[in-house]
Amino acid sequence: MKRKKISVIGAGFVGATAAHWAAEKELGDVVLVDILEGIPQGKALDLFEASPIEGFDARVIGSNGYGETKDSDVVIITSGVPRKPGMSREDLLEINKKIIESVVKEVVEKSPQAILIMVTNPLDTMTYLAFKRSKLPKQRVMGMAGILDTARFKAFIAIELGVSVEDIQALLLGGHGDEMVPLPRYTTISGIPLSQLLSKETIDRLVDRTRKGGGEIVNLLKTGSAFYAPSAAAIQMTEAILKDKKRILPCCVYLDGEFGLKDICFGVPVKLGAGGAESIIELQLTEEEKSLVAKSAESVKKSIMELKL
Ligand code: APR
Repeated sequence: MKRKKISVIGAGFVGATAAHWAAEKELGDVVLVDILEGIPQGKALDLFEASPIEGFDARVIGSNGYGETKDSDVVIITSGVPRKPGMSREDLLEINKKIIESVVKEVVEKSPQAILIMVTNPLDTMTYLAFKRSKLPKQRVMGMAGILDTARFKAFIAIELGVSVEDIQALLLGGHGDEMVPLPRYTTISGIPLSQLLSKETIDRLVDRTRKGGGEIVNLLKTGSAFYAPSAAAIQMTEAILKDKKRILPCCVYLDGEFGLKDICFGVPVKLGAGGAESIIELQLTEEEKSLVAKSAESVKKSIMELKL
């Protein structure tokens, strides 16, 4: 069987760590691309030199161009700039818009059959941009956010209850921002509804911490944002696709009427397999959940409008 190829665009914290997880799990060969000279080459060589020690078979190559990415199966896009002091959200959007447009063009030219996983923030907006510019089928362009956000929710529940993270199932809807919609009603611990194990006040506190989870890490790191959990989440999606696992995971995808939303990229449960986001699973929501979803969708739509496509 031919080895799969995973390209990771942006060899910064998220990109390099994603390459690390992918290689170590032997998901395929890995190509790291960045505009910085020497950085992708150096990180790729260093990672490959770890392979005789850790015992994984995956070639890892770094490049400043896209030639090596040719015929990738999955491309993870993390390239972008972080928000710096004095930079408005609009400034950031404008800069990352240009980066994502140029990256997507190169990626699709070299790998027209690839599945794209977006990581660059603002996530839902960048996923929408990549979907529109790539002209790929909607099943093959998705954003990583829901897995990260549910992982944070699960981590906080595990700490609170003193139980294994493995036994927690959780689901979440919406944009990757403070208005995301964690769904405690769809959260269980080995099948036991969360509400039987924690009080409403505690659940509300954990939901609130989840919503602010990205900011919590930024406040601690000061000079950067989260990268272990975001990269692990992108690799969980990659693995589900490359192994055609048909996993049901929350991902950001283009909606065309699902959940009552149209022409937006938004976090919803999808079936992930070889075809990408093969289907979207609609949920029955309470009135309160519906209004939270509507609020989150409104703020994503506003950001998408700012792209002026
Ligand atoms: N092509 C390729 N790489 C680029 C380009 C470009 N046009 N522009 C910038 N980059 C690279 C930068 O050189 C840098 O190495 O993208 C990398 C981004 O890495 P970091 O600054 O370390 O950012 P990181 O923490 O990895 O986050 C990346 O993921 O979670 C999101 O909000 C986060 O949007 C950010 C992205």
